[in-house]
Amino acid sequence: MTMTYKNSNQQAPLDAQCAPSHRLLLQRADAGIRQAQPAVADTHRLHYHLMPQVNWMNDPNGLVYYRGYYHVFYQHHPYSPDWGPMHWGHARTKDFIEWEHLPIALAPSEDYDLDGCFSGSAVVEGDLLHLFYTGHRVIDGQLTQVQCRATSSDGIHFIKDKRNPLITSFPSDGSPDFRDPKVWQHQESWFMVLGSGKNGRGNVLLYKSKDLTQWDYVGVLAQSDGTQGTIWECPDLFLLGARHVLLVSPMGVENRRVMYFEGDMDYEAGKFSPQHVGTLDYGPDFYAAQTFSGTKRRLMLAWMDAWECHIPSKKDNWAGALTLPRELLLDESGKLKTQPLPELKGLRRRGVPAPTSVLVEKDQSLALTNPQAACLEMNLVVSLTSTTASHFTLCFSYAESSEQIVVGYNKVTGELYLDTSEVHAGQPGLYNAPIYPQGQSLDLRIFLDRSSIEVFAHEGAATITARIYPRSHTTVPILSALDGQIEVTSLACWNLAK
Ligand code: FRU
Repeated sequence: MTMTYKNSNQQAPLDAQCAPSHRLLLQRADAGIRQAQPAVADTHRLHYHLMPQVNWMNDPNGLVYYRGYYHVFYQHHPYSPDWGPMHWGHARTKDFIEWEHLPIALAPSEDYDLDGCFSGSAVVEGDLLHLFYTGHRVIDGQLTQVQCRATSSDGIHFIKDKRNPLITSFPSDGSPDFRDPKVWQHQESWFMVLGSGKNGRGNVLLYKSKDLTQWDYVGVLAQSDGTQGTIWECPDLFLLGARHVLLVSPMGVENRRVMYFEGDMDYEAGKFSPQHVGTLDYGPDFYAAQTFSGTKRRLMLAWMDAWECHIPSKKDNWAGALTLPRELLLDESGKLKTQPLPELKGLRRRGVPAPTSVLVEKDQSLALTNPQAACLEMNLVVSLTSTTASHFTLCFSYAESSEQIVVGYNKVTGELYLDTSEVHAGQPGLYNAPIYPQGQSLDLRIFLDRSSIEVFAHEGAATITARIYPRSHTTVPILSALDGQIEVTSLACWNLAK
C-alpha cells in the first residue's frame, strides 16, 4: 500500500514582498522534493501518521487552526534524510485523517537564519497568520539564536518580516541556546516563552508584547531544580481547565522525556509555580511536543523519534514522523491525561473478528485474532479484580519473522511496559510507565502502524510511544497469563487505513 496524500501543486509565492532569495530557495526545495520522491522506498512508510514526503523531519512547529484547517509545520531538511539546515515543511488537514502537503513555508535565506529556521509557533491575529521561529547561525563555532517572524494572508505563502530579528540576543538569565518561541494571547497582551538555560539549569524565559513586533523581556518563568536538564527546548505554556500546564523538552539528562508541570501562572509577576511534575510519554520516540493555537480543545502533536535514535528508514530516503494527534486533559489530582482524538475513529476500516471478552488461564496463551496487517487499533479492558496473574503480556508476534513487540503489565509494581527488544532494527529496549492509582480495571488502547506503536493506558494517564521496524507487516496479538488467570472484560480490534 502507498500513502495517498493529496499534493496541492501550489506554486511558490509570486508576492513581490517576498524577498527574491527566499522565493528561489523555496522553489528549489520544493522542486528537490518532487525529484526525490520516486527514491522513497515503501518498506517502513506509515499508513496513517503524518511524515515527510521525502527526507528528514523533526519537531512539529506552528500548530494552528486557521481558515478551516489544522496547519502543521515541521522541522524539515528537504535535501537529505539527515538533519541539516532547517526549513519549515507544511501540511494541513480538516480531520486529522486526510493530510495535504503544501509548499515549504520557510527556508534559511537571510543573514540571521542562514543555518536554519528552527522551531517555533503560530498565532492568528485578525486575518493574518504569524509564524514565530528561531533564526540559527553558527559562525566560527559561535552559536547565535535570534527570534523572527514571517506572516501570511493565505496560510500558504510566508513573508519574512523586514524588521527581523525581532529579538536580537538572549537576556542575562539565558545563554546562546535561546530558541523555540511559543506565542499566545492573554487578555490584551501577547506572551512568548523561549527555551534556554543557565549554569546547568534549563529554564523558560518570558517575553511580552502589545503588537507582536516589539517584545520586552519579563524574566525567568520557570527553571530546572538542578536535575531536570541543562537546556530546556520547545516550551509550551497553556491554560487547561482552570490550571496552567508547562511542557518542556530537556537536554542534558539521560532519558530525554518531555516533562510537564501543572501549576499556577502569575501573569503580574511573570512566574509559573509548579505543583506537580510528570512525564508526558514514557517511550523512547516522543519529543518536542507542541499544542495547537486557536482550538477549544488542547490538541498536541510530538515528533515520533528522538535525537539519540537510529532511524533505519534513512536508507529509504526518509526519516521522522509525528505522533497521532492527542487531546490533553487534567484530572482532579493535577495529573495530565493524553488521549487519541475521537476523530481517529474515522481510520477504522474493518472490525477484526475477535471475542468480546476473554479468560486466559494460568500459564496459557491465546491468539486474540487471526494474523492481521500491522495497522491496527486494539482496545481492551482487563479486570484487575478477577485477574489473579501478577503479570500478563499482549505480544504482537510478526508472522513471517521471529520478531515481536510486547505490551505488558506488572500488577505487583503497577507498571505498564513496552518491550521492543525482539525487533531487529530501530532502538530496541524496555520502557516502563507507572500506573497509579491502580483501580479495578486497566484499559489499554494500542495503535500499531507499520513502524510505530502508541500505547494509551488508564484513560491516557500513561502513554508509551516507540518506532519499531519489523521485517514483515503481518502480526498476531497473543495474550498470555503468567502465574494466574487474566480476564479481559472487553475487547475490540480494527484495521486502520486512511
Ligand atoms: C528540538 C530542537 C529545537 C530546535 C530544533 C532544531 O528537537 O533541538 O530546540 O529548534 O530541534 O531542528
